[in-house]
Amino acid sequence: MRTEPHELLTLRDYERAAEAVLPPEKWAYLASGAGDEQTLDDNVTAFRRWRLRPRMLVDVQDVAMASTILGTSIAMPVLVAPTAQQRLFHVDGERATARAAAAAGTIMCAAAAGSCTMRSVYEAAPDGARWFQMHWYRDQALNEALLAQAAELGFEALVLTVDSPVLGTRDRAVRGGHVTAEMTLLRDVLGERADDVPPGAFVDIDRSLVWDDFESIVSTSPLPILVNGLLTAADAVLAADHGASGIIVSNHGGRQLDGVQATLDALPAVVNAVGDRVEILLDGGVRRGGDVVKAIALGARAVLIGRPVVHGLAVAGEDGVRAVLDILAAELVNALILMGCPSPACLTREYLTR
Ligand SMILES: Cc1cc2nc3c(=O)[nH]c(=O)nc-3n(C[C@H](O)[C@H](O)[C@H](O)COP(=O)(O)O)c2cc1C
Repeated sequence: MRTEPHELLTLRDYERAAEAVLPPEKWAYLASGAGDEQTLDDNVTAFRRWRLRPRMLVDVQDVAMASTILGTSIAMPVLVAPTAQQRLFHVDGERATARAAAAAGTIMCAAAAGSCTMRSVYEAAPDGARWFQMHWYRDQALNEALLAQAAELGFEALVLTVDSPVLGTRDRAVRGGHVTAEMTLLRDVLGERADDVPPGAFVDIDRSLVWDDFESIVSTSPLPILVNGLLTAADAVLAADHGASGIIVSNHGGRQLDGVQATLDALPAVVNAVGDRVEILLDGGVRRGGDVVKAIALGARAVLIGRPVVHGLAVAGEDGVRAVLDILAAELVNALILMGCPSPACLTREYLTR
């Protein structure tokens, strides 16, 4: 019997298909890393520096991927990373992503720099699990309003991104040309004050924020906070000491400071330092089920994917995002069975070698 050829089998296939359908300036914005893109490339290459050490004759009849992150149930240890401006890529934008994440049983992390309002993300998938990502802005009233609305609309955690006191220099995106941002979410929360923000302007990030400020944010926040964008054990200890509930080991997909470590390389030191105190996640360069296995074996509780979700969105909206998540879930199940691991929780450093 012959099966029909299938062109979209892997996340890489979705990446190529997205590049084919998107106008060059949008592709440049999405694909770009900072500077010479050393870190962008290294995020992917880092996974290839580890090899898997499967065990045999383990009962893998049933493989269970469900777990929890900060108490939220997830069907698989792959979450949707915050990415801004999703309506650049599909008319439904963040709403499509929220529906797809909910259907896949995972958490959608909605970015404050989003192109749909927080309420519309909530209404798209009221039963889905969602987190809200923001930077800390100089406008305190805006910070408070964002947090209050997130809590009111059932976002279960705040992801505070701390690696972007300024944006990285994304030369490829600049060369690609201008992409107009619709700061719909921020404008909606700013209300009438939005008229003071020039179209497309990025709301000012508070560059003076330090760990003591972080502690006061934690103490008044209605939501548990994950610190997003840490790469060192020293910062991980400070985050835990100052009340973070979780840490996302992330370099913003190589879009901030070029030349920083790949996230997979940074992970073990962070896990060693605070793995018993806070939940640790990782993003950057995850493209295969085997990559998820490697990150979890090195101590991540789950991973997030950024660009692959947007590739799916660009190719086929909600269905495309769902397909990307389903492909990764199926690859992960396959890899776990072949690793002799009936659940991701079995994975340890013993299952890897350099
Ligand atoms: C187009 C794009 C927009 C992004 N926007 C945000 C954002 O608004 N806030 C944030 O914290 N991270 C943002 N990120 C970083 C992602 O959350 C994530 O760290 C990164 O995409 C992970 O790497 P990956 O794309 O290799 O999976 C963005 C990434 C991309 C590619």
